[in-house]
Amino acid sequence: MSDPMIDITDVCFTYPDGTEALRGVSFRIGHGESVAIVGANGAGKSTLLQHLNGYLAPTRGDVRIGGQAFTRERIAEIRRSVGVVFQDPDDQLFMPTVFDDVAFGPLNLGVPPEEAERRAVASLDRVGMAHLRERPPHKLSAGEKRAVAIATVLALSPDVLVMDEPSSNLDPRGRRRLIELLATFEHTKIIASHDLELVVELCPRVIVLDGGLIVADGPTERLLSDEPLMLAHGLERPHILRHRHPH
Ligand SMILES: Nc1ncnc2c1ncn2[C@@H]1O[C@H](COP(=O)(O)OP(=O)(O)OP(=O)(O)O)[C@@H](O)[C@H]1O
Ligand SMILES: [Mg+2]
Repeated sequence: MSDPMIDITDVCFTYPDGTEALRGVSFRIGHGESVAIVGANGAGKSTLLQHLNGYLAPTRGDVRIGGQAFTRERIAEIRRSVGVVFQDPDDQLFMPTVFDDVAFGPLNLGVPPEEAERRAVASLDRVGMAHLRERPPHKLSAGEKRAVAIATVLALSPDVLVMDEPSSNLDPRGRRRLIELLATFEHTKIIASHDLELVVELCPRVIVLDGGLIVADGPTERLLSDEPLMLAHGLERPHILRHRHPH
C-alpha cells in the first residue's frame, strides 16, 4: 500500500508562553481525500494546520507528508507540494501589488517569468479578483484580501491544499465561487472552518478538535448531525442537516 498523503502521529505542540495547543493528535489522510477540521475557537485548528508545511514543528510526535519527514533537505520540496492559506491574509500578502504577490510564489519556485505571469493572472481570475491586480494588497477589503490570499496558493499548483477559514469575510457570491472552485480541485484538501455548510458540501470526512485533542473523526453527515456531540464541543448542527436523522 502506498504511503498516506498526510500522516500525523501523536503530535503535541506547546507555544513558547506555555500554552498547550495540541495534546497528542494522530490521523492519516489519503491521496485525494477532502477533510474538514472543525472545533470551537482555540481548539487548535490553526496550530495543527501550520504543522502541515513545517511552519510550526511539533514539540513531540511526527508529521509526514507523502511518507517524508520534515528534514532540512526535504522542507523546500514539501512546501512546494503543500499550499497553505493562512487564517489571517495579512500573513500571506506582503508585496507592493496584488499581481506581484500572486506571481511571487511561482517565481520563487523557479517558474519562468512568462509562465509565472500566466499562472498569476489565471489564479486571480479563478477567485474573481483579476481587476485588482495593480492594487496594493494592504489597501483591499477583508474579503478581497481573503480571495487574493487564496489565489497566491492556487498559483503554486500544490498537490495538497490546506485552508484555514477560507470562506470568512467572503460575500455570498465569493463564497459560492470558492466552493465551486474547491469542488473542482481533485487533489488532497484540508479545510479548517466554522462554515459547517461549506464543510458539508466539500468534505466527506470531518475531524473534530477540542482542547488540542481529536474528539471525533468520521463521516461528515453523521458527525455533524449528532447534536449532542456538536453541542458538547461548542458547535451546532448545520441547517442543511437539520431535516436528517443522525445515522
Ligand atoms: N502565538 C501563540 N502564542 C501562544 N498561544 C497561542 C498562540 N496562537 C494560538 N495560541 C493558543 O493556542 C490554542 C489554539 O489556538 P488556535 O489558533 O490553533 O485555535 P483555532 O482552533 O484555530 O481557533 P479559531 O477558531 O479561533 O481560529 C489557543 O488556546 C490559543 O490561545
Ligand atoms: Mg484558527
